[in-house]
Amino acid sequence: MTILVSAESAKRIVLGVTGGVAAYKVAELARLLTQNAIEVQTVMTEAACQFIAPATFQSLTGRPVYTNLWETNASYNMAHIHLSRDADMILVAPASADFIAKIANGLADDLLTALCLARDCQLLIAPAMNRQMWEHPATQRNVSRLRQDGVRILGPASGEQACGEVGMGRMLEVDELLQTVQSCLLSNRQLAGKNILVTAGPTYEAIDPVRGITNKSSGKMGYAVAQAAVEAGASVTLVSGPTCLAPPMVNKFLPVVSAADMLQAVQAEISHTDIFISVAAVADYRSVNASQQKIKKSDKQLTLELHPNPDILMWVASLPEPPFCVGFAAETDDLEQNAAIKRAQKKLPLLAANLAQETIGSDESELVLFDDNGEHVLPKAPKIEQARRLINHVQLLYYQEHQQHEKD
Ligand code: C5P
Repeated sequence: MTILVSAESAKRIVLGVTGGVAAYKVAELARLLTQNAIEVQTVMTEAACQFIAPATFQSLTGRPVYTNLWETNASYNMAHIHLSRDADMILVAPASADFIAKIANGLADDLLTALCLARDCQLLIAPAMNRQMWEHPATQRNVSRLRQDGVRILGPASGEQACGEVGMGRMLEVDELLQTVQSCLLSNRQLAGKNILVTAGPTYEAIDPVRGITNKSSGKMGYAVAQAAVEAGASVTLVSGPTCLAPPMVNKFLPVVSAADMLQAVQAEISHTDIFISVAAVADYRSVNASQQKIKKSDKQLTLELHPNPDILMWVASLPEPPFCVGFAAETDDLEQNAAIKRAQKKLPLLAANLAQETIGSDESELVLFDDNGEHVLPKAPKIEQARRLINHVQLLYYQEHQQHEKD
């Protein structure tokens, strides 16, 4: 087993164990994490204690195991707040359907759910349950809600289950969980101290008070990018057109409506921006004379006069000292050719392209990144995963460019 975390950089995690047969495998995970110089504080739910005894985790981690929100012992004082305060991560494995439903809805009626709610560190969960429970729309709804909230979902995998059925719902293997935890702890906060400005969603250009021109953009990708940038330690400002999404926990959230509003918000922020990521689907045109009154319906033909909108990304990238700029392109055809043209036209070090028909409104996408080194395919995955991969790539190019500037 590779040891990625050295004793000098010891990290702390809270290991939450909920009620599932896979809890016995997590005892091995607790042992491996401890062996890899990661301090493990185990918190178990009541149901978890039916599957495996707290004493097992206590022996393997060398630390007392917490199970009860109501314990009055002094060392337990306000455990629901203190336990996650100095943790780098909370990992919940196995995560039962019941636990997932609770945290998706902000419930906090036991120690583990309470400390998940009172945390400011990253939360990773490894679901494990019967395949029908996993596939149930309620569980899928809860998981998708958690993804939007920035929780990282590890697995599940497909295979034979404890109940004898075969399907999705097996917890990931312990080795895979260990590797993910280690790489998350290491890659964590690469962008600390950097200001990232993200635009997301569509813009809305009024024609009259009840009608307008807009684009088919849900905002999911832009919000995921903002979330991934927060996870990487950056200070994030999110400028968003109208969406139905709850904004991620960014440093500054600036809701806007039209392209002109978006440009104004970007202009106000740009002087202190290190990295600008333009995910917004900005409307290319706006109505020349938006009517103050509702235009009445008639049998006559109606001609709308449209004026081109400013290209916000082009404006930023053409500044004398632009931040590191990342563009997005949703194309219906000739992805490669169109992306290359767009990258050159807008003078971008990096452009992420995807197929409009596959990505718009979807929770998943395949992304192709175009930069000076060619193209890099990010195979289909949930948007939050793609966003994390993108941020990782941005971070590599950003620091390369800066090293180059320092040499010049
Ligand atoms: O619409 P287009 O395909 O040109 O968009 C490519 C990139 O340019 C995207 O990153 C988008 O956010 C940005 N853009 C912009 N202002 C516009 C149009 C596009 O910032 N008016």
